[in-house]
Amino acid sequence: MDMEGVDESFRVTPWEVEGVVDYERLVRLFGTELISDELMARLTSLAGDSNHMLRRRIFFSHRDLNLVLDDYSAGRGFYLYTGRGPSGPMHVGHIIPFYFTKWLQDRFNVNLYIQMTDDEKFLEESRGLTLEDTSRWSYENMLDIAAVGFNPDRTFIFRNTEYLGNMLPLVLKVARKINFSWVRAVFGFNEQTNIGMVFFPAIQIVPALFERRRCLIPAAIDQDPYWRIQRDIAEGLGFYKAAAIHSRFLMPLTGPTGKMSASQPESAVFLSDDPKTVRKKIWQAFSGGQPTVEQHRRLGGNPDADVAFQWLYYFFEEDDRKVEKLREDYRSGRCLSGEMKEILIEKVTSFLEEFSRRREEARDTLHLYTRDGGLAREMWERRHGLD
Ligand code: TYM
Repeated sequence: MDMEGVDESFRVTPWEVEGVVDYERLVRLFGTELISDELMARLTSLAGDSNHMLRRRIFFSHRDLNLVLDDYSAGRGFYLYTGRGPSGPMHVGHIIPFYFTKWLQDRFNVNLYIQMTDDEKFLEESRGLTLEDTSRWSYENMLDIAAVGFNPDRTFIFRNTEYLGNMLPLVLKVARKINFSWVRAVFGFNEQTNIGMVFFPAIQIVPALFERRRCLIPAAIDQDPYWRIQRDIAEGLGFYKAAAIHSRFLMPLTGPTGKMSASQPESAVFLSDDPKTVRKKIWQAFSGGQPTVEQHRRLGGNPDADVAFQWLYYFFEEDDRKVEKLREDYRSGRCLSGEMKEILIEKVTSFLEEFSRRREEARDTLHLYTRDGGLAREMWERRHGLD
């Protein structure tokens, strides 16, 4: 193993997911903790509400979530930070952390910072994107994010290429604490890696130091390496170590290995796909069924490998009773693969219909999230001790 998050059978880094991820093993490799029943109950009770992604442990791992809840209970509060690398259209997997973040923001009424890493996506040479491309995707992706419906009074969405000047003093303080051999070990960089990529981790770490309160970061577990570095340097700079809550990856339509990708459009449903495309893609998705209907009825299917069932379980069917009945019906052969797909098509189509309506509305409301006034000014002054 040459770096953390890489095992003989799978590989998880902020830029790639290969193989079938063994999440329990990943938790050990990354040194995070599984969310215990007790911790989930505490979060649910303070939130005053339960969340299906938490109940099902789609958000399954964490760092210091217990301390975040201590801070909240003691009235010290906390804030949220998450982000998106605007390299292309967003798919239904990317939106999962944002919906979960919205749930947290609504329940705890806290500030939220959303970083658009248009710099990072330009620096990843293999993507072949120009700065104009990443700028255009930033705007498109920010509309998707705004469509989720965050609290405009407590949310600040910023693009690195625009906002970096404001962050630079802190980015420099962070950068001076990280040497090359450290990022090489954490991210697998080598002598050929461009120096922009080598510097970039400092930029993704800084929003986890925006306030002198604990920061909770909801994201899929691929982003955790950044938080690990943040946690090693935060206290030395007078800040809290970042806390994190990690999700699993919504599996690609093509089956349980790897990650959905814009370069493989059949592997993902994009938020901009029309109903016809959604139907076609889901219809072609990998299934956990038997080769013939007769065999399926007799032997039953495998819900763990069935993409349609997994998508319903991860996100699209909130009702636990319904989803457990589907699992059982599929396993026993009562529910056929085609029927499972039809159920998912209906769910995804109605979700996207509502989503695209909200996305159109976001064209008029996006400025409420990107204004560098209220929250951004407040943050800046607090950081420099002007408050
Ligand atoms: P990006 O654009 O690769 O991913 C955006 C968010 O989506 C999560 N994610 C997924 N979640 C569920 N299922 C999937 N299949 C799936 N694929 C991706 C990612 O973990 C992420 O939460 N460098 C980052 C941008 C960033 C960021 C952050 C992300 C900057 N600051 C703070 C999270 C938190 C990136 O390129 O994300």
